[in-house]
Amino acid sequence: MVEKTENTHKSIEEAEKEGKYIRKVRSFVKREGRLTKGQANALEQFWPTMGLNHLDGMIDFAHLFNNSNPIILEIGFGMGKSLVEMAKNAPELNFVGVEVHRPGVGACISLADEEGVHNLKVFEHDAIEVLADCIPNGSLTTVQLFFPDPWHKKKHHKRRIVSLEFVETIRQKLKVGGVFHMATDWENYAECMIEDMNSAPGYKNLATDGDFVPRPDSRPLTKFENRGHNLGHGVWDIQFKRQD
Ligand SMILES: C[S@@+](CC[C@H](N)C(=O)[O-])C[C@H]1O[C@@H](n2cnc3c(N)ncnc32)[C@H](O)[C@@H]1O
Repeated sequence: MVEKTENTHKSIEEAEKEGKYIRKVRSFVKREGRLTKGQANALEQFWPTMGLNHLDGMIDFAHLFNNSNPIILEIGFGMGKSLVEMAKNAPELNFVGVEVHRPGVGACISLADEEGVHNLKVFEHDAIEVLADCIPNGSLTTVQLFFPDPWHKKKHHKRRIVSLEFVETIRQKLKVGGVFHMATDWENYAECMIEDMNSAPGYKNLATDGDFVPRPDSRPLTKFENRGHNLGHGVWDIQFKRQD
């Protein structure tokens, strides 16, 4: 069977011929969760102002936000509660969220409107393809990856979004001095993240005591983190700075 790309219904081969980066092993399984009425309305009403399309290609951030404020990119924002809270608390920054789960995208832009947030844009697309095709190198001040799917079983580890290749891509997209911030409640994933970050050139760990940093106040508790706390899991925050 020919594998089709997510939004364009072209074969991977056709899309690659057109210069689009298409990923073969994905970090997610598309859940066709039903949209609530509110989410559907929000997508219809606010997509023209808040939505970004992968097929539109490289972004000019200054043009997009009409200012030159620093750009924070969040990958896999879930329902967007913590992303909207961060954007609301920091109007001097611009936020871009990337999420594949449509109900989550709807919930996020609905809440953003409710909270009067104007410094936030979102993609409904695979972050790997968005990074490759839409985000200019050296353009990001921070990349946030909070509670990525842990893919617990060893045979599924290849689906984890964090890999050596991924952290190198993130380094290229960050400005020199920019920060890659990850958090997970899965110890084995935290260890693998640290291993990849230590092997990747051009990064410096911001932790001063061991491998991990305390949760910064700027990161609100997320739904998955709360669930982890209730299950008695620990949480590991990792912050590395791009050095060169
Ligand atoms: C475990 S949830 C965490 C959500 C949120 N960050 C939180 O802490 O509540 C992981 C999220 O990442 C999204 N995701 C996984 N792979 C992705 C990818 N390649 N691009 C965009 N989103 C992705 C999933 O759809 C899911 O919503």
